[in-house]
Amino acid sequence: MTKLSARLASVARMVPGDAYLADVGSDHAYLPISLIEKGKISYAQAIDNKMAPFLRMKRNVEDSGLSAHIACSFSSGLDELQPDVDTLAICGVGGLLTCEILEKHQEKLDQIKTIILDPHRDLQAVRKRVAALGYHLVDEEMLYEGKIYYTIMKWEKGAPEKPYTQDELLFGPFVIAKLGETFHDYLLQQQEKINGILNDSVPEGKKGPYLELLTQIETQLKKYN
Ligand SMILES: C[S@@+](CC[C@H](N)C(=O)[O-])C[C@H]1O[C@@H](n2cnc3c(N)ncnc32)[C@H](O)[C@@H]1O
Repeated sequence: MTKLSARLASVARMVPGDAYLADVGSDHAYLPISLIEKGKISYAQAIDNKMAPFLRMKRNVEDSGLSAHIACSFSSGLDELQPDVDTLAICGVGGLLTCEILEKHQEKLDQIKTIILDPHRDLQAVRKRVAALGYHLVDEEMLYEGKIYYTIMKWEKGAPEKPYTQDELLFGPFVIAKLGETFHDYLLQQQEKINGILNDSVPEGKKGPYLELLTQIETQLKKYN
């Protein structure tokens, strides 16, 4: 059985049972291999656009004996998405690349009911741009692994009932609603970081955006009192 990191295990939990998954930027293909080994899904497409990860993915799929269940594609983003795919995972890449991959083939999103994302930067832009593509968040999980905070997002088709607030775009509506211990630790870390920047290096006239961010962080922190 393939053992997933805590981050990929969180992604795996968000994949609907019996989804036809495309794992875009699959690299090692651990996610589809593990989901099929556990019987949660039956078929997947693993996609990567670089030769070394593609060969690694292909070897892992062959070694797992799942070649009849996982199609390995050497292609970029959704360029060669299979028509049966109804769920996307795009994990472990930057947020802007995540958005570009989704926006490049909007006609292919007609077939996509669920999107699971683990963007490593620019989460605010991701929430804004994926909502604009006609999806709404149904769950988020923040976790800390290898000294990094990750937020896994699960999106389903259909626009949000009301536009996300600035705080929801920044931190995530479900992250805020859950008020978990990891989010608390993250807020404290960010507060310390912003205070450090303000005290060290930002000229008086450029402090505005940092002070605004600090207020947003402190508004969330007050909820833990
Ligand atoms: C850091 S790995 C993440 C692997 C795995 N998804 C995870 O979360 O552990 C990112 C992978 O995305 C691939 N990648 C980057 N841009 C891509 C694109 N446009 N299309 C397909 N794969 C891409 C890279 O080659 C790399 O193998």
